[in-house]
Amino acid sequence: MPTPLSALPIRRLTMRDLTACADLAEDRDWAREEHRWGLLLSASTGYGIDDPDGKGLAGVCVVTSYGRELAAVGMLLVAGRHARQGLGQRLMRHVLHEAGTTPLVLHATPHGKPLYERLGFTAIGSTETVLGRLRTPGPTVSPVATRTATAADLPAIVRLDHEVFGADRTHLLARLPAFADRLQVAEEASTITGYAAAWPTAASDVIGPVVARDTDTAKALITALAPGPDRPLRTSVDVRHGELLSWLKEHGPERTALTTLMTYGIPDLPGDRARRFAPLNLATG
Ligand SMILES: CC(C)(COP(=O)(O)OP(=O)(O)OC[C@H]1O[C@@H](n2cnc3c(N)ncnc32)[C@H](O)[C@@H]1OP(=O)(O)O)[C@@H](O)C(=O)NCCC(=O)NCCS
Repeated sequence: MPTPLSALPIRRLTMRDLTACADLAEDRDWAREEHRWGLLLSASTGYGIDDPDGKGLAGVCVVTSYGRELAAVGMLLVAGRHARQGLGQRLMRHVLHEAGTTPLVLHATPHGKPLYERLGFTAIGSTETVLGRLRTPGPTVSPVATRTATAADLPAIVRLDHEVFGADRTHLLARLPAFADRLQVAEEASTITGYAAAWPTAASDVIGPVVARDTDTAKALITALAPGPDRPLRTSVDVRHGELLSWLKEHGPERTALTTLMTYGIPDLPGDRARRFAPLNLATG
């Protein structure tokens, strides 16, 4: 007799699960994004349930820990053939148990939101994802100077990020120069006032994170990192930054998704949301 889904063990994922994770994403009509899975499976903790019929993974979830201050939950996916049988809830209960007293943050899709609400997550905002070719206004329009980051900028980037994110993300940011195609900083009087990265997917270049002193700095960083006119960019912006979102949409990209920012164990995010424009990706908080 086959093992019931409720009795299947939850195991830690490794790099060897990368293709199975991408297959599962595709099963739920998400892009495969192997490059992103590669980062998540190395910098984060993945949990998975093997398909009882030996067809890869039945469900997965990834947790990125930032010490005891915060952990981000992402990529909760259950194969369509096993949906609505409690696997999503089981994976999330496992994550809550493993997290103990560490507060959690996640970006919920409309599919996931009811499940998170039932488990005690609270909505604290929204993030809009836009996609499209950016008709750049031209570098001379921007009043903010930016330049390509060098290895010497990394300590300053980590310091700024800690201030803005409210938790130490050194282990993630140390991987950024290898993960991203391009890393850009904004600088004024020898002080880094913002940074942003662009990383590739099959369909677009994703711009994130974007950490910036103000909207003009965020615009300058995005303009500098935007791909050429033939390739779309994708970025996910906190809707509090309405000015940046309007500017993006005036220049080509259009909304593709709206996710709900939710926390568990804290009423709001630590750090400074005014300077946090876009996440590295929705799974990392
Ligand atoms: C969101 C997602 C992970 C949920 O996974 P799941 O395994 O179907 O989740 P559960 O079975 O625990 O709960 C889903 C629903 O099934 C219901 N359900 C659970 N067990 C059931 C059972 N035995 N019989 C009937 N219904 C059941 C739950 O009550 C719940 O109902 P509701 O959300 O409509 O109120 C899955 O739909 C998915 O992968 N979606 C696409 C990717 C996505 O959006 N992920 C979320 C990212 S934030």
